[in-house]
Amino acid sequence: MVGMTADGSAPTSAARNAARTATRESAFVKACHREPVPHTPVWFMRQAGRALPEYRALREGTEMLQACTTPDLVTEITLQPVRRYGVDAAIFFSDIVVPLKAIGVDLDIVPGVGPVVAQPFRTEQDLDRLPALTPEHVPYVTEAVQALTGELGATPLIGFAGAPFTLASYLVEGGPSKNHAATKALMYGQPALWSALLDRLATITLGFLRVQIDAGVSAVQLFDSWVGALPAADYRAYVQPHSARVLAAVADVPRIHFGVGTGELLHDMGQAGADVVGVDWRVPLSDAVQRIGPGKAVQGNLDPTLVFAPEEVVARKVRETLEQGRAAEGHVFNLGHGVLPETDPDALLRVVELVHAGL
Ligand code: CP3
Repeated sequence: MVGMTADGSAPTSAARNAARTATRESAFVKACHREPVPHTPVWFMRQAGRALPEYRALREGTEMLQACTTPDLVTEITLQPVRRYGVDAAIFFSDIVVPLKAIGVDLDIVPGVGPVVAQPFRTEQDLDRLPALTPEHVPYVTEAVQALTGELGATPLIGFAGAPFTLASYLVEGGPSKNHAATKALMYGQPALWSALLDRLATITLGFLRVQIDAGVSAVQLFDSWVGALPAADYRAYVQPHSARVLAAVADVPRIHFGVGTGELLHDMGQAGADVVGVDWRVPLSDAVQRIGPGKAVQGNLDPTLVFAPEEVVARKVRETLEQGRAAEGHVFNLGHGVLPETDPDALLRVVELVHAGL
């Protein structure tokens, strides 16, 4: 643990509280709390990344995981899209596998492929390789979040982590997977071991989120990118309790919960304890609002490929999305998944301008 001050609070708490106060009145935080906003807030998943020439220039010669553990690089890369697009929130530059690497799992992020794990998870003995994450495992995260909240002022910083199912998929498959066959075989075939694995991953994930919150992020997003592979009943039985434990442990900031292809899971993902449910582009936001039910904000959901269409088509779709978002108690505009590397940054800039201009 980080040393405590005389009154028992963590030494980071003054800076953390200052950052939280500075961003409390932002459109993004207000929308997450389902409060009235001056304009619909907008940010983009993967807004920091290969679509930006300044990102490609900065990353030249530095591997992804190396970049994620270098506070100066993390800080600069996180700020790049805020400067260029004027988005309403920054997202901390890292990756969902960073906490696993930090606790000693042998893995790498292979360019153009994604996370690759040297020894996939197979047996009960493999649980020993998944100890809890403490702040000492990730000092570069604390350092970068603190530097960022200082730089960002009134612009909120979103922290994030991978949810237990999606992390389990990378660990069990050993890398990216289309069908998640080995993951599901473990889940359905060895439910006790599955539950033990997800319990370990939930502990790691909430530890990683706690470090970011204690350093000053204003909200968190829990990415369960691949959980759309499951039917709702199995999501509730095998996954939701673990995601719920994570989300309950970080209730001091707004919690966004997102996955791809989760049209059938939207209600249950909200019930896992999210304040904001992220929606991919397959479900119209107005339908998503019905499925999710009252008491939640929504985030989404312009198709990330749509920005390759002619300007007038993009403009129409942005307006449609804003219009549908009005059915929600709170709406954070976003893409339905991450920015594609081939995206023209000017197209995203126009989206931000349209969202801020309103209908
Ligand atoms: O701007 C942001 O959104 C913050 C940065 C961020 C990254 N990864 C950086 C990254 C975030 C939020 C993530 C989360 C992440 N990582 C998820 C959940 C979000 C989602 O897309 O569903 C997942 C599933 C991963 C795993 C992962 N890491 C993948 C699939 C890839 C892409 C592989 C490739 O090269 O196409 C990565 C690598 C990665 N993470 C990159 C970035 C910018 C690209 C690598 C690079 O720039 O060198």
